[in-house]
Amino acid sequence: MNALPHLASATGGLPSSVRWAQLILEDRLRPGDVAIDATMGNGHDTLFLARCVSPGGHVFAFDVQAAALEETRKRVPAEMTTLFHGGHETMCERIPAEYHGRVSAIMFNLGYLPGSDKSCITHTQTTLAALEQAIEMLRPGGVLTIAVYPGHEGGAEEGREIAKWAAQLDSRRFEVQHLRPVNRSAAPPELWAVWKTAPAKKSPAAGNSPESLPS
Ligand SMILES: C[S@@+](CC[C@H](N)C(=O)[O-])C[C@H]1O[C@@H](n2cnc3c(N)ncnc32)[C@H](O)[C@@H]1O
Repeated sequence: MNALPHLASATGGLPSSVRWAQLILEDRLRPGDVAIDATMGNGHDTLFLARCVSPGGHVFAFDVQAAALEETRKRVPAEMTTLFHGGHETMCERIPAEYHGRVSAIMFNLGYLPGSDKSCITHTQTTLAALEQAIEMLRPGGVLTIAVYPGHEGGAEEGREIAKWAAQLDSRRFEVQHLRPVNRSAAPPELWAVWKTAPAKKSPAAGNSPESLPS
């Protein structure tokens, strides 16, 4: 049997940055949750998020290209998605206030849309503005993922600035991880994951601790 391991990339290797993002998010999202796709593109990530929060959940998605909304509309269930034609840096303004601080997951997949206009890329200043808003939109226990592509023009600078931004996040409010291949000469895609801290839940094992056993 030649089945690939569940966590493998298409070549059988370790997961790609986007696959890591999906693995982290699908492990945590639940039906009824609210999520944001900050870079909708062709709608693959919007659809992924919609599946994770179905039934009963909702996904807000952003893109500056009208073509991205057209493509995404073909893919995703209309009743559980709201597609915004506009930049993710308008997130706080456009998503109704009742959802602020209640979002379980936010995905950024930066750079340009494969197969389309390579000049339409994400830009450092608007990306950072959106990330600042994103961490406030998250609920305690919510997760933000950022797939970064340092290989294209402007991508390396965007990656460096995200690294600085991530490093200065208050460790009492956020846990941050960085996943990247380290033995390739080219600039490979990388992933940042930010978890907004939440009060610890009792693990099921805690129920069996000596203090909780009947005497
Ligand atoms: C790598 S693609 C996203 C791929 C997408 N998530 C998918 O599943 O197909 C990056 C997208 O970011 C979009 N973009 C660029 N600047 C943006 C901004 N300020 N706000 C939202 N999206 C933006 C581009 O138009 C492009 O579609």
